[in-house]
Amino acid sequence: MPIILVINGPNLNLLGKREPHIYGSETLTDVEEKVKRVASEMGGCELIFFQSNHEGQIVDKIHEAFGAYDGIIINPGAFTHYSYAIRDAISGVNVPTIEVHLSNIHTREEFRHHSVIAPVAVGQVVGLGTLGYELALRALLSTIKGVKG
Ligand code: DQA
Repeated sequence: MPIILVINGPNLNLLGKREPHIYGSETLTDVEEKVKRVASEMGGCELIFFQSNHEGQIVDKIHEAFGAYDGIIINPGAFTHYSYAIRDAISGVNVPTIEVHLSNIHTREEFRHHSVIAPVAVGQVVGLGTLGYELALRALLSTIKGVKG
């Protein structure tokens, strides 16, 4: 069974309470439940959920994927825009990674328009709220199971 690591970066523990006009009212637990439902709908996978406000902890978690996990879904929060350490960890472990953002980073402040993670991700889902995590899992599992498209 595929093993997928779902990482949420800084401030995403506040999901549901934090700026709900931008990020919505669902909590991180709601997101996890949605992702679990998609997993079982698609024939099952093992899910590992991780949230941290600390860059180094996220890097360490990505390292755990090396040769062990089949895919990573990551919302790196504000680290998206400047963390070369997280970018290098993703390219270093060579595990297919999909970047997710709840909001459309391209229509917001200028500093959010650029992602240093995007060049090492297989794809990016932005602006679709929590549905983005579901779509990312569908994409990863479809690719892993060889039913692309
Ligand atoms: C975010 C967008 C980032 O710019 C921001 O710093 C976040 C959340 C999103 O999911 O829309 O913390 O990654």
